[in-house]
Amino acid sequence: MREKLKLGVNIDHVASLRQARGTVYPSVLDAAKICEDAGAHGITIHLREDRRHIQDADVTALKRAIRTRMNLELANTDEIVGIALEVKPDEVCMVPEKREELTTEGGLNILADKESIARSVAKFRDAGIIVSMFVDPDSEQIKASADIGAEYIELHTGTYCELAGDAQARELDALIAGAELANELGLKVNAGHGLNMSNLAGMMSIPHLDTLNIGHSIIARSVFVGLGAAVKEILEGMQAYESS
Ligand code: PXP
Repeated sequence: MREKLKLGVNIDHVASLRQARGTVYPSVLDAAKICEDAGAHGITIHLREDRRHIQDADVTALKRAIRTRMNLELANTDEIVGIALEVKPDEVCMVPEKREELTTEGGLNILADKESIARSVAKFRDAGIIVSMFVDPDSEQIKASADIGAEYIELHTGTYCELAGDAQARELDALIAGAELANELGLKVNAGHGLNMSNLAGMMSIPHLDTLNIGHSIIARSVFVGLGAAVKEILEGMQAYESS
C-alpha cells in the first residue's frame, strides 16, 4: 500500500477571472477555503512577473488564510525571489517563465543557470522554505535538482497530457524513470501540469508521488459543478493511487 497521494489545488485561474474584469470577485481567499474544506492538502499559486492573475496582495492575504500548505510557484528573478523570502510560503516551486507564454511551457533548465538557481535555493532553505524544482523527466535536470539542494522535484506532466498513443506511453515511461531516479537521489516527487479527470489515470503508475498540483481543469470544471465538487472529483480519481 502506498502513501496517500496529496492534492495541491492551483487557484491562479480564480484570479484570472477576477482580473479579466478588474472586479474584486471571485475571491481567491474564498476559493482557497472551499478547496481546503473539500479535502485539498495544499493551495498553489504562481506570482508571475506580468501579474496576469495572482497579485502581490493575494500572496500576503493567502499566506494568512491558508490552513494547509501554501506552495508559491516562481521564476528565479530577484524581485519575485525577494517577495517569496518576505512572505515565507511553506514551499516554493521554481519554474521557467516567458512573458508571451499562455502557461508554463516545459520544465526549468537548471543546467543553463545552475549557480544563480543554487543561490536562490540556499536562500529559501536558510529561510526554512521547502524548495521544489519543476523539471521535465530528464535525468540531467533531476540530478542537478539534487546537486543544488532541492528537497523536491515536480515532474512536468504537460507533455504527457498533450500526447496520445505510443508517444504518450513513452512519455509515461520517462516520468516513471524520472520518479525512480529522483527517489534514489533522495528527492521527494510531485507532479503536475495539464492534469484532468481524463488523463489522471496515467499518474497512478508513477511511483513515489507525494503531491499532484492541478489547477486549470479543476477551476474549469467548477463552472459546472462548483469548486468543492470539482476538488472532490479529482480527489476521488486519485484514490486509486494508494492501492496501486
Ligand atoms: N505545476 C506547475 C509547476 C505549474 O506551473 C502549473 C501551472 O501554473 C501547474 C502545476 C498546474 O497546471 P494546470 O493549471 O495545467 O493544472
